[in-house]
Amino acid sequence: MNYYEKELNIIKKSNRLRKRKLFDKNLIDLASNDYLGLSTKKSLLKKTYKKLKKEKSFSPKSSVLVNGYSNIHNKFEKKLCRLNKFESAIVVGSGFLANIALIESLIRKRDILFIDEQYHASGILATKLVQGEVVVFKHNDTEDLKNKISALTSVPNRIIIAIEGVYSMGGDIAPKEFDDIATNNNAILLVDEAHSSGVIGKSLLGWFDYYDIKPQPNHIKMGTLGKAYGSYGAYILASYNIISFLENRAKPIIYGTAPSLFDIALAHTNLKFLQKQKKKIKKQIAQNQRIVKKYLNLDVESLIVPIEIGNNKQVIQIQEELIEKGYLVGAIRQPTVSKAIIRMIIKLDIKKKDLIEVVRYLKN
Ligand SMILES: Cc1ncc(COP(=O)(O)O)c(C=O)c1O
Repeated sequence: MNYYEKELNIIKKSNRLRKRKLFDKNLIDLASNDYLGLSTKKSLLKKTYKKLKKEKSFSPKSSVLVNGYSNIHNKFEKKLCRLNKFESAIVVGSGFLANIALIESLIRKRDILFIDEQYHASGILATKLVQGEVVVFKHNDTEDLKNKISALTSVPNRIIIAIEGVYSMGGDIAPKEFDDIATNNNAILLVDEAHSSGVIGKSLLGWFDYYDIKPQPNHIKMGTLGKAYGSYGAYILASYNIISFLENRAKPIIYGTAPSLFDIALAHTNLKFLQKQKKKIKKQIAQNQRIVKKYLNLDVESLIVPIEIGNNKQVIQIQEELIEKGYLVGAIRQPTVSKAIIRMIIKLDIKKKDLIEVVRYLKN
């Protein structure tokens, strides 16, 4: 019996079959979320290894609530609090787990979650687990959110609004007005900063930094370490109370092994590097954005460049043509996005001449 044969055939027929691939390592990578190119910096790896060698144990061994919480986690959390000016922080195994932890635990009975329709799949999955009500609003549409809040017929216990700082597929930034709406409605604002921390803001800290919003008790920032921070894992920043509540109610935190010590230590090394080099990094980001503007006439606000193609087959074809030339770009198909796109990441380790060659190719 070939289990799932029928389902797989349906996926194949609609050109939606996904397959993980071992791409040639010599390809120039414009597909991954290693925005700042830190994943290939051997000096940062060496520094981290030296630091970790001094530890008695190198693996987390258990949940943070048993005996898995280490100095490595604690120091990184403190660093994140200082930089981002939040009261408290907690590291989590991954961004996916962080969204499950946050949404599943924070939305209690008689609470309402308002969530952007383009919020990450991990958050959308978590909405199926909540006890309270869930309302989806149109992407980045503050008017739709306001209308939906106004239409409430009973007063909820709490309102939680969930947005992303920079959206993973479109690369667009959530408007500041979401913060005003949260304040005006006494709501908690949860911002997934997977694609914004390390990329936008005066100090490259992300969405709150970009709009110069001083963190308040109603703010929650979730950030991932697998993207600009060049490692793996995630963190949550919030008030003492909210972090304490997560420690008491969020299942991925309570029942999952603590984050990998190596990954947290690497993210810490990388974050220090990033903060030291932020002037240079910001200049490089602006330069790459200017190249995209010049050749593709696209105003990009982050390092994600979505080029709409609209056809699942065609995006794969374009990706293959670029592979032939030595470049790897993302080919994102339906149903991940509503219309198929080439997702090009203008990573900072890409040489100017290579970036120009790719954007010229995509122009035609
Ligand atoms: C917006 C957003 N949130 C969360 C995640 C999940 O983070 P992680 O890859 O660390 O599990 C991703 C991953 O792509 C993402 O794009």
